[in-house]
Amino acid sequence: MSQKNQTLGEFIIENQSSFKYTSGELSRLINSIRLAAKVVNHEVNKAGLVDIIGAAGDTNIQGEDQQKLDVYANEKFIQTLTNRNIVCGIASEEEDDFISINSQDENNNNKYVVLIDPLDGSSNIDVNVSVGTIFSVYRRVTPVGTPVTLEDFLQKGSQQVAAGYVVYGTSTMLVYTTGAGVNGFTLNPAIGTFYLSHPDMEFPENGKIYSVNEGNYIHFPQGIKNYIKYCQMEEGDRPYTSRYIGSLVSDFHRNMIKGGIYLYPKSSKNSNGKLRLLYECNPMAFLAEQANGKASDGFTRILDIEPTELHQRVPFICGSKNMVVKAEEFMRLAE
Ligand code: AHG
Ligand code: MN
Ligand code: MN
Repeated sequence: MSQKNQTLGEFIIENQSSFKYTSGELSRLINSIRLAAKVVNHEVNKAGLVDIIGAAGDTNIQGEDQQKLDVYANEKFIQTLTNRNIVCGIASEEEDDFISINSQDENNNNKYVVLIDPLDGSSNIDVNVSVGTIFSVYRRVTPVGTPVTLEDFLQKGSQQVAAGYVVYGTSTMLVYTTGAGVNGFTLNPAIGTFYLSHPDMEFPENGKIYSVNEGNYIHFPQGIKNYIKYCQMEEGDRPYTSRYIGSLVSDFHRNMIKGGIYLYPKSSKNSNGKLRLLYECNPMAFLAEQANGKASDGFTRILDIEPTELHQRVPFICGSKNMVVKAEEFMRLAE
């Protein structure tokens, strides 16, 4: 049960028994993410004061320029999880391949693997706009004590045991689920403690916000074009408001609180859209469903998609349930 002024640390301990598996390992894992989030938050907040803004001079496996803070956040999350011997494997947007932890050590009895987008929306850093971190947690499927394999990471989203994000915004929040609803915690920066500020978060069933990069309109499938026109039509509670930050975490967070839909469709330039299934769409889809929302690729439930590659991309439509259902209707009609 949530209570007023409860800290994240207290909440984790209190809710440990409601996890499906109660060894305490998952609690330690969430605790490590909490710690890494504070470290990264500290650095993100210094952007502009110290030499942390701008490109790191490298590209990741997806050909995207890595920002200095992408590299920093990636290192901090990996270090924190590795040093504590908390997980048996990590996959990250910024790493070509997954990392096997203590694979030689037969005493590594850890059961969980983590997939992360260490810094989401990183092109927003230079202009002082909110960024985030996304994480997704699975139980490994290969035997404990052996090195992890790709199979441990390529699990369907419906197998996630936990997922969440940190949003480094006007305030810093950690929002996560272990499959029993979604709770949000706000950091008090003066004392470095997260407090439960948003218990039992839920998407309103209907919303009035649509979030999409409309600059790509010309390249979108007909179903998406028709849905966007529907959002803009003068009828009933429409036209809707358009809000697009360009930082999935922030756009999702706003839509969950206010009611809305986020779309990153495929386009004639990019046949699978832009967002990555394993460390962007799956964790957000798990959170959405746990918060009474919905996530789809336009036709299929995101959490039912069978992954084939670590850095696989997928079209993504996510948000208030009735809005996502409507967008799917338009997709089907235009088939
Ligand atoms: P990342 O910074 O981790 O590469 O992710 C950026 C993603 C997502 O956060 C955002 O919604 C989307 O890219 C924005 O893409 P466009 O600039 O193409 O709209
Ligand atoms: Mn991202
Ligand atoms: Mn990223």
